[in-house]
Amino acid sequence: MITVEWTAEGVRMIDQRALPTEELYPVYSTYEGVAEAIREMVVRGAPAIGVTAALGIALGLKTSLAPSVVALEDEFLNICDLMAATRPTAVNLFWAIDRMKRVFAAAKATGADAPALRETMIAEAQAIHAEDIDTCRSIGRHGADLIPDGATVLTHCNAGALATAGYGTALGVIRGAIEQGKTIQVFADETRPFLQGARLTAWELMKDEIPTTLITDNMAGHFMKLGRIQCIVVGADRIAANGDTANKIGTYMVAVLAKRHGIPFYVAAPISTLDLTLASGDEIPIEDRTPLEVTHIKGQRVAPEGVAVANPAFDVTPNDLVTAIITERGVARAPFTESLRALAG
Ligand code: MRU
Repeated sequence: MITVEWTAEGVRMIDQRALPTEELYPVYSTYEGVAEAIREMVVRGAPAIGVTAALGIALGLKTSLAPSVVALEDEFLNICDLMAATRPTAVNLFWAIDRMKRVFAAAKATGADAPALRETMIAEAQAIHAEDIDTCRSIGRHGADLIPDGATVLTHCNAGALATAGYGTALGVIRGAIEQGKTIQVFADETRPFLQGARLTAWELMKDEIPTTLITDNMAGHFMKLGRIQCIVVGADRIAANGDTANKIGTYMVAVLAKRHGIPFYVAAPISTLDLTLASGDEIPIEDRTPLEVTHIKGQRVAPEGVAVANPAFDVTPNDLVTAIITERGVARAPFTESLRALAG
């Protein structure tokens, strides 16, 4: 399955809003369209957002008519600003934009002209895309060793192939364990309000024929109490220097339940999800989304008109609830301030 890709016509992605009932692959031929697709969650998931933003920036440069390096740079910085304003929580977005800026500056410093700059930036965006798949496979290999044979793994939201350029982070760990020959079952939280678990995780795991049981979010504690869950693996949108982890709303609830039941709670994320500039999770910006996601399901109203609604898209799990953080460079354990810094290098 292709989450997002560079094509001659523009940036092509699977429309994740339409899944699982329809498999649509719109092509965005303008960078404004790509930014809108990120904002509207046609594409979502922290690494996928970063990759898509890089491809969108490359598209903006490719289609730019700027005649000079100065004009191209002006346009480039405006495109970066537009991408940065799409979604606030996933730090991979800002990581990808910063990387594109560094490469632009380095190429400009060598005296590259506008056509050469365009080529360099398109190649860089494609490299970000390709590296993300390799990164996920490495996360999968490191994490697989932590998953016991015969385990039922609970996951929240979608941290799979659809949330990355391919393979996934949390679901990459599950795929890695299966590739080791282990027998693994998955419990997928439906993940209200956007239903990434029901619509996306269940869909991609079923495509891979990985045994999956879908549950509503409020069933997780019940199954942990019954001893049906052996470990939890989730993704992350931003991890502070001390290991506090922002992920999809409801993750914190799962982590508290895991602690209560003595079940290991693992976070799987690339190094690009670390934000070592933030001392703790208190500083992570949390996106608020439209009340319509709470009051409506698939366009159908499920709450009384006029009711007050809160819709934070993410919560922060404190580091003491996290058993380990699985990255492409290895596994970090408490104290996270030291272990994450060592992995980040
Ligand atoms: O709002 P979303 O769907 O972009 O949120 C996605 C998540 O919270 C994922 O768990 C996270 O980005 C990790 S994806 C590998």
